Parts: sequence; structure tokens; C-alpha cells
Amino acid sequence: MFPDLRCRFMPEDDMTPTRQEAIRQLLVRAFADTAHRFATASYWGARPEYRLWIETPDGTIVAHLDFERRVVGVGDRDIRIAGTGEVAVHPDWQRHGLGRRLMNAFRAVLRERTPVDFGYLNCLEDVAGFYIAVGWHRTDQPSLRLHPDTGEPTTWTGATMILPVRQPLERWPREETVDLRGMSW
Ligand SMILES: CC(C)(COP(=O)(O)OP(=O)(O)OC[C@H]1O[C@@H](n2cnc3c(N)ncnc32)[C@H](O)[C@@H]1OP(=O)(O)O)[C@@H](O)C(=O)NCCC(=O)NCCS
Repeated sequence: MFPDLRCRFMPEDDMTPTRQEAIRQLLVRAFADTAHRFATASYWGARPEYRLWIETPDGTIVAHLDFERRVVGVGDRDIRIAGTGEVAVHPDWQRHGLGRRLMNAFRAVLRERTPVDFGYLNCLEDVAGFYIAVGWHRTDQPSLRLHPDTGEPTTWTGATMILPVRQPLERWPREETVDLRGMSW
């Protein structure tokens, strides 16, 4: 479906202001209830390291995610993850398989170009089913992080999703608290 769509991958440092703005506008549309988070910036929380998106032949960005590689603490272990955020498909394009396509491309990027052991993200209940449908695993262990708005240490107790990349799921210590050692994505 939609053979003309193209997937693009880029380091944050190479993004033009025009592209940043297009992504910001996509995020405002996709996250309608929390659009204020993207009033001036194309991310909320930790600054991304890379962006992955799907665009139409005329360059319109219709699906997007970003991530940062970081070594986090899980119990007494250090694990390299891709902290993932700003996962969004434009409302006009949702439920047509673009989210799945983006995630398939993401898995390939994480294996071949920016190696990590696991993908990591937190999400709200109403999209947890999407991540499970596209290959993530739910663990729901608490995580410590700095709050994006206040910088204060906070604990997340909602949905936690793990994507095995270079390590099998069994290697993820799912009973332990995750220390993100910074802001979430
Ligand atoms: C969540 C989101 C990225 C999904 O993208 P999408 O392009 O609509 O998803 P797809 O069409 O590729 O769906 C892939 C699978 O997930 C399922 N799915 C999609 N959205 C779902 C949801 N909200 N809950 C449960 N399952 C969902 C689809 O039914 C499909 O399953 P199937 O292939 O087994 O039939 C998109 O709805 C979105 O951008 N939402 C607003 C922003 C947001 O909340 N992002 C997540 C932040 S953590």
C-alpha cells in the first residue's frame, strides 16, 4: 500500500529548520490533547539523536519517530537502549499501516545502523495495543527520570514497552526499576 511513500533517516544535527518545523506541525496534529508540548519545539523531553520518518513524493512528512541511544541502569546492569519518542502518524493517514511500516524500518535501523540492545518507550494505555501489534513487548516496570517540564526526578508507573534488537527479550531484566539517567523521550 502507498508504494510512492519513502522512508528517511537522519541525525538530528543534520535536520534543516524547515524539516524541524514540518515535524513540529505533524506532532501538533497527532498529539491534539497535548499539542502545547510542541508549541515551539519538535520534541518534548530529551533531545533526539536521530529521526526516522515517512514522506510523500512531494516531501510531506506523514509519519515520524525519533530516538536517542543511551546507557540506562536496570537493576544493577547497564543496558544500551534506543529511547524512543514522538511516534506519530498524521491523523489523515492513521490506520493504513504507516505506523507498522515505520516500526519495521526502525527495527532495521537499530540493527544495522545505530546498534542497541533494546528499544525502549513509555506510552499511554490507548496506544499500547499498537506497539504490541507491531512487535514490542509490554513489561510495565517503573522507571526513574527527570520530568521534561520541571527537571524534577519522577517515577513513571504506566505502560513500558521493550523491543528486542541485538539481545533476546529474555535478557531484559523485567522485574527491575529502570533508571533512565536523564529525561524521557
Ligand atoms: C499510534 C499510531 C502511531 C498508530 O499508527 P497507525 O499508522 O494508525 O497504525 P497502523 O495502521 O500501522 O496499525 C498497525 C497495527 O496496530 C493496530 N493499532 C493501531 N492503532 C492502535 C491503537 N490505538 N490501539 C490498538 N491497536 C492499534 C492496528 O489495528 C494494526 O493492527 P493489525 O495490523 O494487526 O491490524 C497513530 O495512531 C498515532 O499517531 N496516534 C497519535 C499519536 C500517538 O498517540 N502516538 C503514540 C505515542 S506513545
